[in-house]
Amino acid sequence: MNTQDESVLKIRDVTKVYKGKGALFGASGKDVTALDRVSFDIFKGEIFGLVGESGSGKTTVGRLIVGLEDVSSGKIFLNGREVVGLKGRARKEFRSQVQMIFQDPYQSLNPQRAIYDTVSEPLKIHGVGNASTKRDLVREILQSVGLSPPDDFLFKYPHRLSGGQRQRVAIARAMVLKPTFVIADEPTSMLDASISAQIFNILLDMRNRLDVTQMFITHSLAAARYLCDRVAVIYRGNLMEIGSAEEVIRNPKHPYTQALLDAVPKFGHHRDVSRYGTLLIKDRDVAGENGCVFFPRCAVALEDRCAGSRPLLGRVSGEHRVACFLVEGA
Ligand SMILES: Nc1ncnc2c1ncn2[C@@H]1O[C@H](COP(=O)(O)OP(=O)(O)OP(=O)(O)O)[C@@H](O)[C@H]1O
Ligand SMILES: [Mg+2]
Repeated sequence: MNTQDESVLKIRDVTKVYKGKGALFGASGKDVTALDRVSFDIFKGEIFGLVGESGSGKTTVGRLIVGLEDVSSGKIFLNGREVVGLKGRARKEFRSQVQMIFQDPYQSLNPQRAIYDTVSEPLKIHGVGNASTKRDLVREILQSVGLSPPDDFLFKYPHRLSGGQRQRVAIARAMVLKPTFVIADEPTSMLDASISAQIFNILLDMRNRLDVTQMFITHSLAAARYLCDRVAVIYRGNLMEIGSAEEVIRNPKHPYTQALLDAVPKFGHHRDVSRYGTLLIKDRDVAGENGCVFFPRCAVALEDRCAGSRPLLGRVSGEHRVACFLVEGA
């Protein structure tokens, strides 16, 4: 795999504000800044993990990349070409290159359509193949996601499949055009551990055999470590730490990444549970609007340093970068 500077995807200073809809029906009507000046690159052939707790902005990143939402500001490039505002043929071409797999395999498949129709639809939309080659392409991709023999599945409907099988169908549909880049948004959060491991292995296989670059969205550092080459940790729309999965998980620098690792239950003694102790028991009663977004929860924060301005990502070593005033070198 080549993780030299061959970026498939570049995100630069991307901000997304969801506008409040007014204070009707009990809604607060406040704007929500889901992403705040986020920048990172995903290199050719890698699986890049975007890790963070619920509401941190992970899905928003995915939706902005595929164009389901518009950025408020900032730029997104695929293979060096800006994707925001693509129209007509350029937009269609882009949509054949970038696919998204969603969290819930029960909702993401159309219950009225047989597997063959679902998986062949992208081929139809993009005018790939004739009736017979299309059938072969669908068989081939079903085989490679482990729906075998494929002929047993072609004319089944989603309700006849298990959750794991449905997610395999969703992966087959995303991969059938051999896209450049695929976003998998928590693809296994509805599945049990052994089925999840099978799905991870399919994603690894797609990278290894079809060279599909991927962004894998998860709240689980353990899953990210299993699957990803590099990871980025995001908290309330801010990128806190980025680096090789190995480095970020074995040698986490940001207090938030450390707190996330503390939250992972470990085999063994409960003493191991809080190695870092970087989370306050009770949040500080401070909005932290101008300072570090993690300040209200951070046990090691310094009031004068961390509450007044926002730390930017700084390099601690090689590719490992951290946004924290208290990390040496960052
Ligand atoms: N369409 C929307 N309108 C208003 N606010 C939204 C919208 N979509 C997301 N948000 C808000 O933006 C923030 C980020 O949401 P997002 O769905 O990206 O988080 P996430 O990290 O994917 O969370 P989860 O792990 O729960 O899927 C949240 O505060 C969410 O409430
Ligand atoms: Mg999400």
